[in-house]
Amino acid sequence: MQILYSLCYWIGNSPMGKVVHDSAWMFPVIETIHLFGIVVLVGAASVLDLRLMGVAFKDFTVSALADRFLPWIWAGFAVQVVTGFLLFASEATKMYGSGVFRVKMLLILAAGINALVFHFIGYRSVGTWERDPVAPLSARLAGVLSILLWFGIVGAGRWIAYS
Ligand code: HEM
Repeated sequence: MQILYSLCYWIGNSPMGKVVHDSAWMFPVIETIHLFGIVVLVGAASVLDLRLMGVAFKDFTVSALADRFLPWIWAGFAVQVVTGFLLFASEATKMYGSGVFRVKMLLILAAGINALVFHFIGYRSVGTWERDPVAPLSARLAGVLSILLWFGIVGAGRWIAYS
């Protein structure tokens, strides 16, 4: 897609893209912060997912865990978007040509849609089932899908370097 390539070319040649690309230390430092963000985001999301799946943390209600961990999920996600965009900017045309990068972006989109669908449908009735050690099928499915998607995103992220 020509317009997408032009956008990537423009981002890659912007002062922001160039400064990260031309620096010897910025890319590794930003990538390290990207990794810290993964720990926070995927760690916190996994706690909720395991509870939804009925595998762990069954002594806690789902809403108590959500209240506790959602701020960490959002904070980790914000770090990921900012650091991810800076990494992307430094190699935007290369990322345009990377099929794995596209897969990763699609998986992030899918994880977001899964979370939204669960939030607006399954979670609305949380008060009626959150004390049950085993959540309803829709919640268990949302948990399984979420953990698989986040692990897939981490795998795809690591794989980009070799694609
Ligand atoms: C939302 C959750 C995200 C996760 C779990 C994630 C995961 C990862 C992982 C595991 C790596 C490899 C790190 C390494 O090799 O040391 C990586 C690298 C990278 N990520 Fe992310 N990422 C996320 C979001 C984003 C976003 C939103 C963008 C872009 C807008 C992005 C762009 C990149 C880029 C450009 C690289 C470097 C690829 C390379 O040249 O090797 N990431 N990510």
